[in-house]
Amino acid sequence: MVTFINNAPFIIVFIAVFMARATVEEVDSTLPLTNTNIVSAAQTKFGALQGVTLREMFSEAVDKATIHAGIPKKDIQAAFIGSFIPEMLVHQGHTAPLLLDFAGLKGLPATRHEDACASGATALRAAIMAIESGFYDTVLVAGVEKMTSVSTNKATEALAAAADDQFESSIGLTFPGVFGIAAVAHMQKYGTTEEDMALVSVKAHKNAATNPLAQFQKEITLEKAMTPRYVAWPLKLFDCSPISDGAAALVLTSNEKAKQYTDLPVKIIGTGQASASMNLCDRSDLTSFSASVDASRQAYKMAGLEPKDMDFAVVHDCFTIAEIIASEDIGFFKPGEGAKAVRDGITALDGDKPINPMGGLKAVGHPVGATGVKQAVVVYRELIGDAGPNQVANNDTAIMHNFGGTGATCVVNIMRRADI
Ligand code: COA
Repeated sequence: MVTFINNAPFIIVFIAVFMARATVEEVDSTLPLTNTNIVSAAQTKFGALQGVTLREMFSEAVDKATIHAGIPKKDIQAAFIGSFIPEMLVHQGHTAPLLLDFAGLKGLPATRHEDACASGATALRAAIMAIESGFYDTVLVAGVEKMTSVSTNKATEALAAAADDQFESSIGLTFPGVFGIAAVAHMQKYGTTEEDMALVSVKAHKNAATNPLAQFQKEITLEKAMTPRYVAWPLKLFDCSPISDGAAALVLTSNEKAKQYTDLPVKIIGTGQASASMNLCDRSDLTSFSASVDASRQAYKMAGLEPKDMDFAVVHDCFTIAEIIASEDIGFFKPGEGAKAVRDGITALDGDKPINPMGGLKAVGHPVGATGVKQAVVVYRELIGDAGPNQVANNDTAIMHNFGGTGATCVVNIMRRADI
């Protein structure tokens, strides 16, 4: 008995940890999404939007997703907003009420989500839960970031806040540096080459050339992508997403409300989110991001689907190596085979498994807090057949993957046209 009492705190902790794990697994495996629809989606142009403020970009995206889409603003019940570091980039905190007021939505409950480059997707996931639970019928999800108001050095320093300050950023590790390390690991383990990564960039710029909302609407040759202007070896200028301004917005509704707004809603049928250690030193493998693998597994399980059922993917290609790794982590290709898929044209717009059909972060731009929402905008537009020259043929189901930092936070959603 004495032994039991002495050990009781440990036994209680053990049971609590076991129950917590059991709860996570239970939610992971048994909760179907049945009531969440995207009924409209829009983005501003991405790029260096000189003279356009944070609130103006936000307001433009919201107007496009609401009144321009025939959805009265008075129908919106709450707002979920992704934004990473406006404090450091435009010296503005407490942005949710400010942005809503400027967008003509004053008074609504609004919360800003900050999860580095995954801020947009974690805002979307919170909105999914709010609709799915029946708490709200119609909500706004929006993401925004204004990055070009500061120098590249200042933006690099601000972005580094998404890494572990004690062990990484304070000793000079930046995001190009972090992904350079991941690239070296992939090269050593699988033989991936600088040219393979450059081919991801060539594809991104080709797709973005026909996307009028992209920061870079210009095709590049492989030779240009290989220009040895190293940012963090082996990553060169064209391996990096740029520093960008932009905003994106979605309206999510329940099934009942969706019918009021559109004949062709897009359903979110699976969602997953996971985290991993911030610090690269605590990772056993730098050629895969465990949070991406875990979040994908959850989303596929919830949707009852597999990678083979996905017609295309929109993944977080903040650097070209990140797209190659993501294509493996979401299960499109076996570990180490992502680069070969790029070389073989499988991930091209007209390939068997198109990835980033409208250009990705690399060429469309990466205003960090807006990116996760913009990815959902791309999936929505592709699924309803509104992608113009960037249309993926014969598609009805797709996966989106958005991560923050070096993949320490990852959100994956699976979406399907409602008429399927
Ligand atoms: N891809 C292609 N072209 C780019 C580019 C990019 N990522 N970034 C800038 N350019 C172009 C500019 O348009 C400009 O072209 P121009 O001379 O024809 O007008 C030229 O390169 C120089 O632009 P500049 O803004 O001076 O470049 P920079 O050296 O200040 O910044 C990077 C380049 C790559 C360092 C910067 O874009 C960067 O830091 N990217 C990574 C951002 C990041 O880490 N995001 C978070 C990811 S987790």
